[in-house]
Amino acid sequence: MDALECIKTRRSIRKFTSEAVPKKDLEQLIKIARWSPSYKNSQPWEAIILSGDKKKALSKMLVGLLADNKESRPDLAPPTAWPEAEGNRIKQLLAKRKELTGIDLNSPEIIVKAKKANFNFYYAPHAIYLFQDASLSEWSLFDIGLFAQNLMLAAHASGLATVPQAFATDYSKEVKEFLGIPTSKRLILGLSVGYPDIDSPVNAYRTERSEIEEFCTYME
Ligand SMILES: Cc1cc2nc3c(=O)[nH]c(=O)nc-3n(C[C@H](O)[C@H](O)[C@H](O)COP(=O)(O)O)c2cc1C
Repeated sequence: MDALECIKTRRSIRKFTSEAVPKKDLEQLIKIARWSPSYKNSQPWEAIILSGDKKKALSKMLVGLLADNKESRPDLAPPTAWPEAEGNRIKQLLAKRKELTGIDLNSPEIIVKAKKANFNFYYAPHAIYLFQDASLSEWSLFDIGLFAQNLMLAAHASGLATVPQAFATDYSKEVKEFLGIPTSKRLILGLSVGYPDIDSPVNAYRTERSEIEEFCTYME
């Protein structure tokens, strides 16, 4: 698959087969993603790959915290408001999802269900957490985002699938404690990783993109 095709056809996958991915193939994703550019080549990223019992135990802990109504405190605060253009795109996404799957992500009960699915990493056999030192600047958040995208592209190019999950950082403090990550670090993103269950209706929906005239100007 060439790079352009890979960028265009990557999408978030939320149903996986139960087949485990060999450790060397998971590590290969990190080996590729580390070639991402970063501010002054500072490489402000750290990763933990989770499989087997460790992953299951983490999911159990997260689902337990949710059931106990424990207040979530992600290290990166979730947005509370959106500018008009971005807000409209989110509304469009939620409406399309509701139309195609009947899932209404505006409903509080569905949000609890969605969180549970996220905490189970959509039953993927693996999860990856990305984190970095909490004293780093916004440029380093930018860099770890590039790392995350390259990791997802490497997975897609290798026949694997991912979904990036802010929800997986809801209980940042507890996740860091569980994984032995020092409190001086901030948890940025969790990702589910595995082989895609391509035939599942959950994976049928392809998100749309705005036309470039909406956000890009050509000048000469
Ligand atoms: C930073 C970030 C956080 C996200 N958090 C979640 C999440 O918690 N749960 C989820 O199912 N999808 C999550 N997504 C996936 C987005 O919904 C998805 O990328 C978007 O709808 C575009 O779809 P695509 O990835 O299939 O192109 C997240 C994506 C990003 C980049």
